[in-house]
Amino acid sequence: MKFQAITDNFQDADVDALAVAVFKDENAASGILKDLDELIGGHIASTIKSEEFKGEAGETAYFIFESNGKNKASRLLLVGAGDRADYKTSDAGILAGTAARNLRKRNVKSFALAARLDGADASEVATTAAANVVASQFELDKYKSSDKNDRKIETFALFVEGGNVKNIKDSLTRGEIIGDSMNFTRDLANEPPNVLHPTEMAKRAEKMAKEVGLKCEILDEAKMEKLGMGSLLSVSKGSDQPAKMIVLRYEPKKSTGKRGELLALVGKGITFDTGGISIKPAEGMDAMKYDMSGGATVIGTMRAIGLLKPTVPVLGIVAAVENMPGSSATRPSDVVTASNGKTVEILNTDAEGRLVLADAVAYAEKQGATRIVDMATLTGAVIIALGDLNTAVLGNDQQLVDEIIECGREMGENFWQLPIGKEYSKMIKSDIADIKNIGGGRKAGTIIGAVFIQEFVKNAKWAHLDIAGTAWSDDAKPHRAKGPTAIAVRTLLKLVEKSQ
Ligand code: BES
Ligand code: MN
Ligand code: ZN
Repeated sequence: MKFQAITDNFQDADVDALAVAVFKDENAASGILKDLDELIGGHIASTIKSEEFKGEAGETAYFIFESNGKNKASRLLLVGAGDRADYKTSDAGILAGTAARNLRKRNVKSFALAARLDGADASEVATTAAANVVASQFELDKYKSSDKNDRKIETFALFVEGGNVKNIKDSLTRGEIIGDSMNFTRDLANEPPNVLHPTEMAKRAEKMAKEVGLKCEILDEAKMEKLGMGSLLSVSKGSDQPAKMIVLRYEPKKSTGKRGELLALVGKGITFDTGGISIKPAEGMDAMKYDMSGGATVIGTMRAIGLLKPTVPVLGIVAAVENMPGSSATRPSDVVTASNGKTVEILNTDAEGRLVLADAVAYAEKQGATRIVDMATLTGAVIIALGDLNTAVLGNDQQLVDEIIECGREMGENFWQLPIGKEYSKMIKSDIADIKNIGGGRKAGTIIGAVFIQEFVKNAKWAHLDIAGTAWSDDAKPHRAKGPTAIAVRTLLKLVEKSQ
């Protein structure tokens, strides 16, 4: 996709279509809407007057008009922006994505969007707009041999009146990297599990690392055995597919962070979760191909980091494992020893995410991580609690949790904190080992998952994101296809950039 920054003469942009946001209850009596209304013969005013289009978020209205000889575009799309009072920078991105998806459907190849800053920062708006336009083009049709989407937005131009062309262009490029990285994450999450097993996931990470200049190391089972990762390895025992620990390292040329500080992003990469011997019911099991979404988020975020080159180091770790009920599979009641020496009684082999994260998180800290954010499609319980609208965040350091929530707010991703604490930790005490991998029955499922992982954090500041409800969208939105959402990629990138 090509990107352009325009700072004057929006109407004359060299594109097929123009797009502009309209706030709720806005009329075409002034400003850019007035100019466009004149351009298309008064149809904006009449459409608003007829209440056919009210400027509600997600609403659109489309016009085809005659060129006046000067302007190249002959199409105009109005996109509802909702209440002006609630308008945020991240909404500008959603608007851009909505316009891009809508116009692509109409076989438009190029469009210019007039940014409505309304107090927002032009660079931030440009970045989120470009990211969303790129992300809006993602489709689930990779494995279709017919009915594939063959329409493409080839050029996206952003108009910022009186803006700085270089700044806007740079911000659009940043946005393109972020959007591509989100789509990288989404492609991984969408892959069928016969294609994307742990070895393939590791290969894709390695190839990506080479392309963007990250270091990449893959720990195989022999190496993990040596490191004593009995918890992680207990999950792969029932599968013919060997487990892989993917370790990605970003080191800036010149660091501005505090000396000795290292942020680690750690992802659950269960490439398929049958439940193991504690097998899941058939209905809905197919969804468990997305059980590697946490790992995919780490890989996509590290890709963006490699390309955007922040001035702080970041470690990315993915525990890539398949959870199958083969004849060597772990049995409920087996006891294993994790790499930190703790013994774990496995009472449910379907609570496998925490088992692989245990060794991954401990490894991150051994590698020098002082702050750890792990992310996982860890519990069905979080879907009951928060639906698909908020990611649960839990942690041992309130400042880190607050930072994540704030970065999420800025990027348009919602996080909601759940508590942890000694009383919850007591619930995973085992009768015969140090801890057990389930506890409390149906009580506090998401918290129990988190406090289990916490047992493997020593001194690091740590936060856990349960993305089971937010990593996959069951329905399409005006700005994006249904399916994998790449949730948390943008928030984590923001977190990294803020610690510069
Ligand atoms: N991958 C699942 C969590 C999950 C369930 C995500 C449904 C999305 C939809 C995880 O490995 C799992 O099976 N968790 C169990 C834990 C239980 C056995 C304590 C769950 O949530 O039922
Ligand atoms: Mn499971
Ligand atoms: Zn799982």
